[in-house]
Amino acid sequence: MQASLQSDANKGLVAEILRLKSERNAVILAHNYQVPEVQDIADLVGDSLGLSQAAARTPADVIVFCGVHFMAETASIISPQKTVLLPDLGAGCSLAATIDADKLRAWKKEHPKAVVVSYVNTTAEVKAESDYACTSGNAVKVVSSIPRDREILFLPDMFLGAYVMEKTGRKMEVWPGECHVHAGITPDVINRKLAENRDAEFLVHPECGCVTQFLYFSEKGDFDLPLTQVYSTEGMVRHARQSQADKFLVATETGILHRMRKENPGKTFLPVKEDAVCQYMKTITLEKVYRSLRDMVYEVRVPGPIADKARLSIERMLELA
Ligand code: 13P
Ligand code: SF4
Repeated sequence: MQASLQSDANKGLVAEILRLKSERNAVILAHNYQVPEVQDIADLVGDSLGLSQAAARTPADVIVFCGVHFMAETASIISPQKTVLLPDLGAGCSLAATIDADKLRAWKKEHPKAVVVSYVNTTAEVKAESDYACTSGNAVKVVSSIPRDREILFLPDMFLGAYVMEKTGRKMEVWPGECHVHAGITPDVINRKLAENRDAEFLVHPECGCVTQFLYFSEKGDFDLPLTQVYSTEGMVRHARQSQADKFLVATETGILHRMRKENPGKTFLPVKEDAVCQYMKTITLEKVYRSLRDMVYEVRVPGPIADKARLSIERMLELA
């Protein structure tokens, strides 16, 4: 398949991965933040929502999930009959780690009638305690679908929560969690970059620490922002393809630039913050993908009763995708 895009040093490894992939009837799914060589070997590169949908419909027996642990769990919950492999069990998520099932149960006790909406960056146990899962791509739609008289607990990302409140005009109780990568993309950092690139379109992921402030400034119209678009990672890639602009400032993890540049060779993509790098996403390498397929490691499987409860919230998320 895409072996030709790989460096000479990687070609032997890529050939072995492709051979094992066909032998195992496997599919390789990669998140937009994966290292370039892993994106180039994948059958599909996408955001959390797109990869969950792909996991649900693939006829493959084995899914090699090049992303982080909660994403592999989600794939396994949706497709319990398939073997889901995560090439490195160290691929966690600082945002998912801000809440566990015990903390959520305690929060629910304080708000017994509330509907619980969990961003997909949560463990299976937390999803099992939730009514809805959502991704950055459909959080607004999920919250809008809940009757207006219902109280909502939204977790775990406070910036995404603030963004959803702004977009829907709904008040929610929001868990004070954040992702260390996105929270580091502050208004200061952005302002500096914007000043140097007034001619660029500005693409922002709603987990960025800056989002609500930028929405506020945009709304008031008293801040000289260039055209600003708030998107999930997949929305950013789609927008870059469709926009007439030829220069973009991108406020999210830098792994996404590889795909943007590859799909749009005539356009320029600049990171707002060069060191906005998720070390968890970067633990996955070509060598680990190879080992994963060779040794069938590391299988991620969610215990039946938890998977059954978590599946309901994920299915609601997929219905509203
Ligand atoms: P997306 O849902 O946009 O893919 O984002 C996932 C994520 O982990 C953001 O850091
Ligand atoms: Fe988690 Fe942040 Fe990494 Fe996304 S970028 S996987 S939210 S730690």
